[in-house]
Amino acid sequence: MRNLLALLLLAGTAAAGEPTLDPVKLERFVLQDCGSCHGLTLKGGLGPDIRPETIEHYDAEGLKTVILDGIPDTAMPPWRPLLTEDEATWIADYLLKGKTP
Ligand code: HEC
Repeated sequence: MRNLLALLLLAGTAAAGEPTLDPVKLERFVLQDCGSCHGLTLKGGLGPDIRPETIEHYDAEGLKTVILDGIPDTAMPPWRPLLTEDEATWIADYLLKGKTP
């Protein structure tokens, strides 16, 4: 019993110490989840084109707000329930840099 407790504590510490950002996972999230509306290459679909040249009127902060809060009265949903602030910042940078094909 005491060993189990120690294991649980260890597991908890390991999880807390892990980096919260996983670029591979986040890139997949952007292409699949955002891509389901914005197109798999983010060129637009149900949602508009969100490649760097079309979102250059946003700065990283503004983009992060759009990602976390969505755009009210449109199909663009708020992602706050699914993403942390850091993840949203990562995605904003990612979109502005345009590492997508
Ligand atoms: C359910 C469909 C849907 C999903 C999923 C979705 N969006 Fe959107 N998004 C939209 C729509 C529709 C708009 C346009 C809203 C409007 O009319 O202004 C939009 C607008 C945007 C804009 C503003 C574009 C501009 O030029 O003003 C950004 C940036 C954006 N989305 C990023 C994202 C990101 C990043 C994700 C994934 C975390 C995402 N969207 C997921 C539907 C979606």
